[in-house]
Amino acid sequence: MINLKLSLSKAEQWVSQNEIDALFPSVRLASKKVYEKSGAGNGFLGWVDLPCTISEELLARLETDAAKIINQSDIVVVCGIGGSYLGARAVIDALSNPFGALLDKKTRKAPIVVYAGHHLNAEYHAKLLQLLDTVNYSLIVISKSGTTTEPAVAFRLLKKHIEKKYGTTQAAERIYAITDASKGALKKLATANGYTTYVIPDDVGGRYSVLTPVGLLPIAASGLNIRELVAGASRMEEFLKNYENPAENPAAMYAIARNILYHKGKTTEILAGYNPSISFLIEWWKQLYGESEGKDQKGIFPAGVNFTTDLHSLGQYIQEGLRNIFETVLTTANQDQNLTIPHSKDDLDGLNYIAGQEIASVNQKAKIGTMLAHVDGGVPNLEITIPELNEGNLGELIYFFEMGCALSGYLLGVNPFDQPGVEAYKVNMFALLQKPGFEKETEQILKRL
Ligand code: PA5
Repeated sequence: MINLKLSLSKAEQWVSQNEIDALFPSVRLASKKVYEKSGAGNGFLGWVDLPCTISEELLARLETDAAKIINQSDIVVVCGIGGSYLGARAVIDALSNPFGALLDKKTRKAPIVVYAGHHLNAEYHAKLLQLLDTVNYSLIVISKSGTTTEPAVAFRLLKKHIEKKYGTTQAAERIYAITDASKGALKKLATANGYTTYVIPDDVGGRYSVLTPVGLLPIAASGLNIRELVAGASRMEEFLKNYENPAENPAAMYAIARNILYHKGKTTEILAGYNPSISFLIEWWKQLYGESEGKDQKGIFPAGVNFTTDLHSLGQYIQEGLRNIFETVLTTANQDQNLTIPHSKDDLDGLNYIAGQEIASVNQKAKIGTMLAHVDGGVPNLEITIPELNEGNLGELIYFFEMGCALSGYLLGVNPFDQPGVEAYKVNMFALLQKPGFEKETEQILKRL
């Protein structure tokens, strides 16, 4: 059985049982395309049976390398972008102490994870290199293509830094490269320099790759339990596979509800959390759904909010702005629920009426109140609940979202596994940088400036 629950009860006004039933044949077909690998983008369905087929050998190797990284590093730098970055960060941020970086390593028990190559900001990378002068670190560089500009630029800087700091031989022992099996510049570089390497399977695209070494090595190096993460994802894989009836299959029901809402003009979905630790889980979800569905002039725009923080900023828009939105509330129960609101003798702030109550329970009331207010304001609310934020439940959630995304994409009639639109900015950037091979584009773009 799975722990994750999906509720459509606060979207009933917009999503009727008849409309749901009418989509059952289409979602069954979408599901068939996923499992039989017969739909668009079928070369990228390796993620479907990934959790249940991860080998003991790979898990053990990841754990051994992670233990080495933990042992020799105060910091581990994870260099990658998009699907080669967001999944690891989503899990690490969700499950790590938000103030862990301020604790000493003995208390923390694992290195602090910092990120590079996920943008091109010079100041950020300069400050990172300054920090790395003062600490022991290891480097995990991740790029499936091995040619993505942002991580390639950052890796040049980091390679130079780590080799200067430790010497070429020792540096090579601190660098872990995760890339394509055979092609790409990173593969060549890793082979030439003798780095430890891991392979990203050919049939797993970037945004579906968190349960490959792309996510698993950084997650293990941050001290988290990757076996439980994989076990949770396997639980969801098995469950969804066995529940062919869409009514009992939460990924199918999520895809159906999204599709009905989209066709009623609800073209923006806001994933809302009530726990700041899941901010990057929301970022990961945004990439998964945005890159998978936003094409052919179609697709739900994925947005994210952190409540109650954003109730004091975007809350106004959600309550009363353009009615083209729906929300999916991601509820994660707190593990430490024993923090209660203190009693005050003078009650100057007027809070004694909730003195003695757990903060988690106040947060819960804020959530229910907000959901009802937003529904009253014309915003359908879906709710996904996991009972506790831990590796196993996150594994379930990740696989649920991946399957929900694939089914949604097929229901929408797009290929959920490509991202042709990502190339447009690259072509312009290469033209402006006068990359060899882009001479014609350079000539054309310069005329536009
Ligand atoms: O999901 C995707 O495919 C993209 O977001 C890629 O992960 C991202 O562009 C990074 O690509 P690469 O791993 O080839 O450097």
